[in-house]
Amino acid sequence: ATAPADWDKPLAGKVALVTGAARGIGATIAEVLSRDGAHVIAADIPAAGEALSEVANKVGGTALPLDVTAPDAGAKIAALVKSRHSGLDIVVNNAGITRDKLLANMDESKWNSVMAVNLKAPKQLVDDLLAADALNEGGSVVDVSSIAGIAGNRGQTNYGATKAGVIGIVDAYTPVLAKKNITINAVAPGFIETAMTAAIPLATRQAGRLMNSLQQGGQTVDVAETISYFAAPSSAAVTGNVVRVCGQSLL
Ligand code: NAI
Repeated sequence: ATAPADWDKPLAGKVALVTGAARGIGATIAEVLSRDGAHVIAADIPAAGEALSEVANKVGGTALPLDVTAPDAGAKIAALVKSRHSGLDIVVNNAGITRDKLLANMDESKWNSVMAVNLKAPKQLVDDLLAADALNEGGSVVDVSSIAGIAGNRGQTNYGATKAGVIGIVDAYTPVLAKKNITINAVAPGFIETAMTAAIPLATRQAGRLMNSLQQGGQTVDVAETISYFAAPSSAAVTGNVVRVCGQSLL
């Protein structure tokens, strides 16, 4: 590990991509990485519209309307970072969706859409960025898993499987990316107060908050600060890890 030139801006000079950045955890990741000195490319689906531009403006970054499941998503990012910057240093695979149903009622479309956004896209993006030589030596990839990928969750077989799969991706890519001196780690948040969890019925939501050892829901900044640590030069020797944020699940 190397000490940052400026401890107040450990990510100075770095270019970071944050997917799903228009709201929730992604918007806070964009803010924290920018506060720590990175230029942030905030990506989200075109339907996110103004919300995405507002986040990008707030952090002095770039708004990139982009569906991470589009076949040319990686190529578009590569083209942007190669033309406007000298490549990408930090990739945060944060975009994620839920399509909850008890297993007996889990139809194929709910299964496939969650697989595509939460599991295939984070892997494909890294593959495409590597193929385009757009990911810089010494960089960092951080994937957003979930406690549901470690402990499972009723009604979330599709979601839990993708979030467990993300941990498998981290394991598989650790030696691959190490050849370019790039780290890869995952965060596994517990219950975080966002629009995603606000959509859960009240009683289940309250139970979700209490299902962790800290007995409370976490905030988006808890996740974002952990991600900024993984992206910083001082964690250059930290790779292949999964860090639980906001309480070990008591499931
Ligand atoms: P959110 O629903 O508030 O935000 C997710 C963002 O991702 C949205 O702006 C959405 O438009 C974007 N997105 C969805 N599909 C996309 C696609 N195909 N391409 C680009 N962007 C896309 O969700 P939240 O709570 O902020 O979650 C962020 C991440 O954290 C997700 O991966 C989620 O699974 C994970 N997570 C959240 C937890 C929570 O309690 N809120 C707990 C554990 C993990």
